[in-house]
Amino acid sequence: MLTYNYYGHACFQLDDGKVKILVDPFLTGNPQASINPDDVEADYILVTHAHGDHVGDAYDILERTGATAVCIPEMTDFVGENIKAIGMNLGGTVKTEFGFVRMVPALHSSGVQGGIACGYVIGVGGKIIYYSGDTALFSDMKLIGERDKIDYAILPIGGHYTMDPVDAAKAVSFLDAANVIPLHYNTWDVIKQNAEDLLKLVEFAKVHIVKPGESLKLK
Ligand code: NI
Ligand code: MN
Repeated sequence: MLTYNYYGHACFQLDDGKVKILVDPFLTGNPQASINPDDVEADYILVTHAHGDHVGDAYDILERTGATAVCIPEMTDFVGENIKAIGMNLGGTVKTEFGFVRMVPALHSSGVQGGIACGYVIGVGGKIIYYSGDTALFSDMKLIGERDKIDYAILPIGGHYTMDPVDAAKAVSFLDAANVIPLHYNTWDVIKQNAEDLLKLVEFAKVHIVKPGESLKLK
């Protein structure tokens, strides 16, 4: 059974019962943080880009846990020599002990010189999870949904820095995802949104509104 543990803003963990995949671990200074960075568990840490609200506590957690980092090669800020890292790039797929990780494009700035923001398609626990990272809507999301049958799309809806609920609903239809989980909203006033709007806008997928500190079994 695959579990989605949501820690607030854009930080979550996928747990297949054996391997824990932590994503965008911004906890220190995160008003929504539901777990202490000293307590969070990880075997892998996936980072979408180098903005502080995504890379966050990655370095400290990598050092403490011995987890493997997954990111673009330019994010050497936190990929020290003593840290295991899979540096990959857009379009690449890496097979892992839990399944696979594919790095896919995102439309966003990178937060690091020469870098680029990305999303991930993650094959784990018999499911395909797509996490877009921070992004605007783009029609090539259709290609992501054509390659893999997306069970769960995890998408930002806060607006201002990313898609809002209107564009996220369009993304769900481009992806042909069966389920959608919104995040990256209500952390600060500037990205205040009513997640219920997504329920009205999404036609064919099931919307799961998960609050910080809550978990969802991914069926
Ligand atoms: Ni960002
Ligand atoms: Mn962000």
